[in-house]
This record gives sequence, structure tokens and C-alpha cells, in this order.
Amino acid sequence: METIRYENGYPGGPANGFGSEYPNPFLKEHIVFRNRDYPNIGQVDEYVRLGGYETARTVLTTMQPGAVVDEVKRSGLRGRGGAGFPTGVKWSFIPKDIFPKYLVCNADESEPGTFNNHEIIDYNPHQLVEGMIISGFAIGATTGYIYIRGEYAYGARMLDRAIREAYARGFLGKKLWGTDFDFDLYVHRGAGAYICGEETALLESLEGKIGQPRAKPPFPAVAGLYAKPTVINNVATLTNVPMIMARGADWYRQYGTEKSPGTTAVSLSGHVKRRGNFEIPLGLTMRQFIYELGGGIRDGHELKFIVPGGASTNWLINKPEHLDAGMTWDDMRAIGTEFGSGAVIVLDDSVNVVTAAMKIDEFFKHESCGKCSPCREGTHFLTKVWERIGHGHGRPSDIPLLNEVGDQMLGGKCFCLLGPSSVSAVKSALKYFEPEIRQQIELGTKSQINGHDAPSPSVAEGSARTGAAAAPVKR
Ligand SMILES: Cc1cc2nc3c(=O)[nH]c(=O)nc-3n(C[C@H](O)[C@H](O)[C@H](O)COP(=O)(O)O)c2cc1C
Ligand code: SF4
Repeated sequence: METIRYENGYPGGPANGFGSEYPNPFLKEHIVFRNRDYPNIGQVDEYVRLGGYETARTVLTTMQPGAVVDEVKRSGLRGRGGAGFPTGVKWSFIPKDIFPKYLVCNADESEPGTFNNHEIIDYNPHQLVEGMIISGFAIGATTGYIYIRGEYAYGARMLDRAIREAYARGFLGKKLWGTDFDFDLYVHRGAGAYICGEETALLESLEGKIGQPRAKPPFPAVAGLYAKPTVINNVATLTNVPMIMARGADWYRQYGTEKSPGTTAVSLSGHVKRRGNFEIPLGLTMRQFIYELGGGIRDGHELKFIVPGGASTNWLINKPEHLDAGMTWDDMRAIGTEFGSGAVIVLDDSVNVVTAAMKIDEFFKHESCGKCSPCREGTHFLTKVWERIGHGHGRPSDIPLLNEVGDQMLGGKCFCLLGPSSVSAVKSALKYFEPEIRQQIELGTKSQINGHDAPSPSVAEGSARTGAAAAPVKR
């Protein structure tokens, strides 16, 4: 059997001094990153030595599936994939009398700024596998798939090995622990498309089709993979399940808040002193997260803005209402943004707002699946306008233009949420930094990235200063 090697320098793990190593004063014990200090926790022998698969055995041999669903419901666990939907409630939508049913783990993790699923998969894949066995049992699924983004080649290998090890020990396969429950688990590698993280596009891709979203309803719980009842959960959601079932819902609820119980893994990147993945009790404030866990803004600079939940989310700025808000789905919505996928990106005063917004919208332009025109055209249009401003050819009319194009993509006009996500950067930049953008347009200054001019706009437009025709931006 292949030997697991935890090399220093491999990005993202406890072995290389990632921010995650920093002692976390806000947490008594880890749940998602449990046993992270044991370097060989990815091997089944070590995982079992530390009590691994004992919870799955107990659950399968002593509990009814409905009781597992009830316990997860009582724990208040909310999905970590973005929307924070209650996991037990989602499981209870699965019809009892339709077979087969499927459990799909969403390991696409493509949201810019998010890399906490990556750490679970690379360092503790057995906790995810155990979570999937228990969750599959709860919903009556006998087959599970882990859909992992194509770029996570190392993670896919770790999962493959963990699954092989689990089969060899009888933790996967037929009649688990002598019960009538069978569970098979497969890893499926995506080809590197952000849209395949959207649950219905993921299912299309898993079925071997083009990864484009399906119309909802029907929801996957009713007609999902191969039109059969399917639960799709994020890696971190499923990785919480073994500890919830081992210690109980009341224990889990000692962490976090009433409406958002438990802990969660959040990736911190950008201009902070300590970057990495941190497990936090839900409800920790953004200030505590950035300044205590992240060590604050790098020396000689001030906080400018925060992208709080991955590139899709509305920005926060340096003001008490934002910094003192709790990191939960409800608290973030109350201040006009989303908790998102557990990804905080911190930008300091060295950042040019036009460049930041352009980079974010370039990403969405690149990842738009092309199925609906507001997103397919709109993401190109927004990027071109940012490029024009960033290259020193902006026009005063670009500000209302950005607003207008953004509005055409909001309010349910796009087929899925990718389109509206690209508008978050536009609306945030204009809301908080319009004078700065206006000044850049008036002066015709070029955006700089790392001391160099921003890349040339892909089309040559007229200039506001020369009075050239304000032609629509061409694709
Ligand atoms: C464009 C787009 C991309 C998404 N990407 C991911 C992803 O990479 N991982 C993920 O778990 N959820 C992603 N989601 C959310 C999923 O559609 C789905 O809600 C989630 O996997 C459900 O898991 P949960 O209930 O455990 O949160 C994405 C949604 C959209 C609209
Ligand atoms: S909003 Fe964008 S990603 Fe979603 S279906 Fe339309 S084109 Fe595709």
C-alpha cells in the first residue's frame, strides 16, 4: 500500500505552519479539524486508533435512520456550502418509498478565497468518509459520490486511498458491521468548472453531461442524480456529522449561537498577518477573526474592505457595524451580505478598487456557463467596463452603466445564482468607493497590480477625455 507522505511545504496543511496551527483561544476543541495535530490521521490505522469509525458502528448497529435525522435536526447543523440550509431538514425531504437514493458530497470548492474543504480532504479524509456512511444510513442511500474539483488531484488521491482502506476494513461495502445496510462510495473528479459547485450543475456533470444548472423545482431531494432522490451536502457539513452523533446535539449546541450552532472552518486570506484555515465557533465577530486569529492587517497599512464569504458576497468595510457583526448566516444577512462558503478575504489600503472588482468579475465572466444571456453577456460587459476604467479610458457614464448592467442581472433574471454573484463586486465598489472610482475616471489613471499597469483592455474603447463616441462595450 502506498505510504502517506505529509511533506512540509505542501500548501494548506498543519505540517507546514499554515495559520491553522496558531492556538485558537476561541475553541476548546476542534470538531471539523478534529485530531489535526496527529500527522498520520489520514491513515485508517491512526484514525481507528483515535476512535474513528466507532461512531458509525454504534449508529448503524443501535439506531434507526429516522433517529439519526432527528438528532442532526436537533443539533441545528446548517449546510456549510453557502446558504446555511438546515441539514437535518434537508435530509427529511427525501421520500422514503423511492429507490435508489443517493448521497453526494460537494467537494467542488471553487469559490475564490475558499480552501477549508481542501484541508479536511487532504489531512483527515476518513472523518468525511465516516460522516458519509452515517449520513447515507440516515437518508437510506446505498451509494455515495464525492464530486471533487479537478484541480484537487492530491485530495482525490487521498480520498481514493481512504476509501480503499475503508473497504479493506469492512467500513464500506455490503452489510456494514453485520447490519443490512450496504454503502458504496466513489470519488468523481470534475474538470475545473466553478458552476459545477452549484448542486444541479454538479449532478449533470456527475451524469456525464455538460455542467449547466437544472431548473428547480424539482429539487434534488425529489429528483436528483439519475432523477432519484438525492441529498447534496458540502464536505464540511458531512464532516461535522460523526462528532454530532458521538456526543449528541446538546453537546454540539454548546458552541455557536442559537440559530447557528456549532463550529465552522473559515479560510482567511489577503492582507492579514496570519493566513490559513481557522475553526471558529459560529458567532465570533469579524473583528475577532481578523485581528485576533488573523493577527490584524499587515504593518504600515489600514483595512480597506473585506470580502466576507467568497467572491460572490457583498463587501464589508472598516466600520464598527461591520467589524462587530457575528460570523453567522443571519448576522451577515442583517448587514447586507452573506456568510457564504467560509472564506474571508481582507484587502488593505494598497488595493485599487477598480482592479479588485475587475478581477472578481473576470472570474465570473470566465466561469459563466453560458446557458442564460443576462449572465453570459452581463459578466462580459461588466468586466469590459472595469477594464476600460482600469486602463485609464473610463467615462463618467461608466458608473451608471455599471449600475444598469448589474440591475439587469439581479431580481431573478439569471437562471442561477452565478450571474447575480458577479454583481456583488459592482454594487459594493460603487456603494463604498464611488468617489475613488470617479476620480480614477476623471484623471484617467491606470490601475496598478503589484506595481505594474493593469492588463490592457481586450477592446480599445474611446476615451472620456478625447470625447470619443461612448459606444457600447463590445465583446
Ligand atoms: C455558482 C455556485 C457555486 C457553488 N459552489 C459550491 C461549492 O463549491 N461547494 C459547495 O458545497 N456548495 C456550492 N454551492 C452551493 C450548492 O449549490 C449547494 O447548495 C450545497 O452544496 C449544499 O450543501 P450544504 O447543504 O451542505 O450547504 C454553489 C452554489 C452556486 C450557485
Ligand atoms: S446565471 Fe450564468 S452560470 Fe447560471 S445558468 Fe445562467 S449563464 Fe449559466
